[in-house]
Amino acid sequence: MSLWNRHKIFEKNSIVLIVGILVVIAIGGLVEIAPLFYLKSTIEAVDGVRPYTPLELAGRNIYVREGCYLCHSQMIRPLRDEVERSGHYSLAAESMYDHPFQWGSKRTGPDLARVGGKYSDDWHVTHLIDPRSIVPQSVMPGYPVLAKTEIDPSDIAAHLRTSRAVGVPYTDEQIASAAADLKAQTDPDNPGLDAFQKRYPKALVRNFDGKAGNPTELDALIAYLQMLGTLVDFKLYNEKANLR
Ligand code: HEC
Repeated sequence: MSLWNRHKIFEKNSIVLIVGILVVIAIGGLVEIAPLFYLKSTIEAVDGVRPYTPLELAGRNIYVREGCYLCHSQMIRPLRDEVERSGHYSLAAESMYDHPFQWGSKRTGPDLARVGGKYSDDWHVTHLIDPRSIVPQSVMPGYPVLAKTEIDPSDIAAHLRTSRAVGVPYTDEQIASAAADLKAQTDPDNPGLDAFQKRYPKALVRNFDGKAGNPTELDALIAYLQMLGTLVDFKLYNEKANLR
């Protein structure tokens, strides 16, 4: 019996054909899926990316709570107009510690993936309290209540622990000092700053909302906005990419 005659068994018997198809699909599936169980991560590691500081994380929570994502995306696509406007296109690694990520596609306002450092803290304070005092045609709502609401640091450690449960590599030390770190980041005279900056390299330390006293929600949101897109040094990243 030639090879082609053997194939007739499949062509004449639909059950055998179905079993044959299933076997082939199963092999294809195994080849594609099985390696994923042995890979630690499918995201390329990039120097500089670190988990959020407690204050930034609190700010991110406010960002999600207030629905900023309904008008703002956080992903610069690799298209010339976007890169010229906002900077290097977004890398997967830059949102690897986001749960959930804030990529989005709705852009009533501009993309915020690289808004960190674009404006001063004062600009953000004024703009978040009353956007129309800066951009008269703006349709963005004002959020004056953030300036008046202090952050409750008592649940931030639990939040870090929860993030760790879904894969963010917070250490025991970072969790234990979360509440203290949340305060330290808004206080340039804090004695614990050196240890804090070791735990979170490149973290900005300043009084973001410009008011003395405990950190407010405005402090947290501005700390978050000011670090967005600033962790990766793209000059180094591109040099390394050229070597690969
Ligand atoms: C109803 C839609 C809408 C919502 C909700 C909204 N924004 Fe905006 N946002 C805009 C628009 C439109 C602009 C551009 C005009 C302006 O600067 O006010 C803007 C501008 C901005 C800018 C300046 C960006 C740049 O590159 O110039 C920042 C920062 C910002 N928004 C942050 C936020 C934050 C944080 C929140 C949530 C607390 C938020 N926005 C909620 C519509 C919105």
